[in-house]
Amino acid sequence: MCPPKHFTVEYAINPWMDTTVPVDAALAVKQWDLLRTTLVDLGHTVHLLDPVAGLPDMVYAANGAFSVDGRVYGARFRHPQRAAEADAHRAFYEKTLGQDNWHLVRPEHVNEGEGDFAYLPRAYGGLILAGHGFRTEPAAHAEAQEVLGRPVVSLRLVDPAFYHLDTALAALDDHNVTYYPEAFSPSSQRVLRQLFPEAVIADRADAEAFGLNLVSDGRHVILNTEATAMADKVRAAGYAPVHVELTELKRGGGSVKCAVAELRP
Ligand code: ARG
Repeated sequence: MCPPKHFTVEYAINPWMDTTVPVDAALAVKQWDLLRTTLVDLGHTVHLLDPVAGLPDMVYAANGAFSVDGRVYGARFRHPQRAAEADAHRAFYEKTLGQDNWHLVRPEHVNEGEGDFAYLPRAYGGLILAGHGFRTEPAAHAEAQEVLGRPVVSLRLVDPAFYHLDTALAALDDHNVTYYPEAFSPSSQRVLRQLFPEAVIADRADAEAFGLNLVSDGRHVILNTEATAMADKVRAAGYAPVHVELTELKRGGGSVKCAVAELRP
């Protein structure tokens, strides 16, 4: 996770960002810290990435890389405003986590890390889901498959409000997902139905509340407080929802999942 020390909305690269509405910087830090302590209280280890002045979107740490089995596929951002974040993530894996344990690969193609990639270790022996249509290039899906050595299923996103895969789909555990079907093309919806017949289906209101932008440890599903209907759905499916208030991060077009990059050694 990366503290929102320099978080603002000073440019608009997704439909949620409005540069005329000021962000409450102190509240952003407070809410983010509650997300951090919630994860720690649930027994997870949280590493911190140093925030860099001039990179206001760094708090969305999920976009900086995608790791599977100790192999790290680096990000290459679509928009120039975020380009420098990729180096900060690379340096984090090299210096903080130690190069010996992680094999880093620089990408050739535009991709926004876990924003557009999800991993299900126990679905079909280890499956990567990948989004394209707004940020990540389809060519990056093939590149990720070569780098990570796991099958990558390409899914086409069609609604600009849900511009990253992680705004429209989330892993609930090692083998099942929840998603909002209409965020995907009809053919991609069909692919998802075939692969995940037991999926928890979300609706537009759930997606707009950023209810799909969740982090799950397979038991606890951490999602923002606005997503009350989504919490009921995951509870009905046997998981324990844990709410965190993240109103300020929503102003940048993100929530729980965007703020957490999962490390898969
Ligand atoms: N303002 C950021 C952007 O548009 C938000 C990124 C949200 N992150 C995510 N994983 N969906 O790039």
